[in-house]
Amino acid sequence: MMTESSQRPNLRQISRSTPTSTYPSERCSASEPRLCESMRAITVWKPESRATSPSSSVLSGADGLSRAAADHVRRAIAGAGGAIRFDDFVAIALYGEHGFYTRGGGRAGRRGDFLTSPEVGPLFGAVIARALDAWWEELGRPDPYIVVDAGAGPGTLARAVMAAQPRCAHALSYRAVEISAAQRAAHPPTVTSLAAMPEQRLTGVIIANELLDNLPFRLFVNDGGWREALVASDGERFVERLVPVCEPRTCLPTSAAHGARVAVQEAARTLVENALKVIQRGRLIVIDYCTTTESMAGRPWRQWLRTYASHARGAHYLSAVGEQDITVEVAIDQLPSPTHVTTQAEFLRAYGIEPLVEEGRTAWQQSAAQPDLAAMTMRSRVSEAAALLDPKGLGAFSVVEWRR
Ligand SMILES: C[S@@+](CC[C@H](N)C(=O)[O-])C[C@H]1O[C@@H](n2cnc3c(N)ncnc32)[C@H](O)[C@@H]1O
Repeated sequence: MMTESSQRPNLRQISRSTPTSTYPSERCSASEPRLCESMRAITVWKPESRATSPSSSVLSGADGLSRAAADHVRRAIAGAGGAIRFDDFVAIALYGEHGFYTRGGGRAGRRGDFLTSPEVGPLFGAVIARALDAWWEELGRPDPYIVVDAGAGPGTLARAVMAAQPRCAHALSYRAVEISAAQRAAHPPTVTSLAAMPEQRLTGVIIANELLDNLPFRLFVNDGGWREALVASDGERFVERLVPVCEPRTCLPTSAAHGARVAVQEAARTLVENALKVIQRGRLIVIDYCTTTESMAGRPWRQWLRTYASHARGAHYLSAVGEQDITVEVAIDQLPSPTHVTTQAEFLRAYGIEPLVEEGRTAWQQSAAQPDLAAMTMRSRVSEAAALLDPKGLGAFSVVEWRR
């Protein structure tokens, strides 16, 4: 996702100049009922640094809603006997009762907290409509042709696809899957709005634009060997607690610098595995900012673990709970092996973005003397294409494809 204020920055570069200071971590003293026995031998990660820590007012939240999200985390920590896994923390912070997405935050778009490709304008959806037509033909024009938009947000992609009037429209059964009721409420009536992924087998396409980066993930730190970072509370603030890794984890790099961190994205892997089980014939398309586990380990964590609020980078991920988005680059090596990987720019070119832009330019020129709304929309294709194809921004996203 792009922050609007940052003029479509290269997300892999945006934080290169930001410090890699860590949040306070603590020594574990409590037993962890949810955790394996070996996790009781705890190492200290880095000393607490108040200078780099957010103030307790930020931690506890500036308003009642975010305080409620922080309280939810605290209750979970108490219930787990002193610490929770990082993915449990993210699940509460984003999707819990008072989470960022649950309470209506995380509206992608110009008035929201970040800008995704569908929110740049209708051009992205128009190209996806062309791709859907091509895949429909390849599948022998199935009817129904089921398209699942996984993590659909407010349904902007659905609207643009429908507006583009694809040839497959009469066979198209468009299912927008969105976990947040607040976002589902904005879905257009032309789609079937669902809270969870379908489990029945289907012929068609599952597409997930910037979903995997928003799924809860576990966090590991190399501290003379890999340790898992749990979240504990220390009064008002949340802190990391490092515990030994108790299950073999093949995805953790065998050599990494002291202090290296990686995300382990089990939820993303499970989502892909389940989606592939559901697709009888067709394809799964994941569009996201991707990386590898090894690359994560070799870079400052702030480059691949980011927070956003109101079109700007947010606070530390353990603070402002429920007030900010938490997002992580997607480690492709942790997913099932894909059939094909390309960049968003290459993908959009392959499915005809350039003729659509040319069509827009011509339509604008023909009606420039008396431009109406339709002409303005056509003209905006030029600037939308620049954003969607930007090799330092959205154009560099990965389009990861699995065929069945
Ligand atoms: C970054 S937004 C992307 C929205 C949209 N796809 C776009 O590109 O504008 C990610 C969305 O996925 C939703 N989400 C997260 N986990 C989900 C899940 N397990 N099932 C369905 N939706 C989910 C979030 O609520 C959020 O609306």
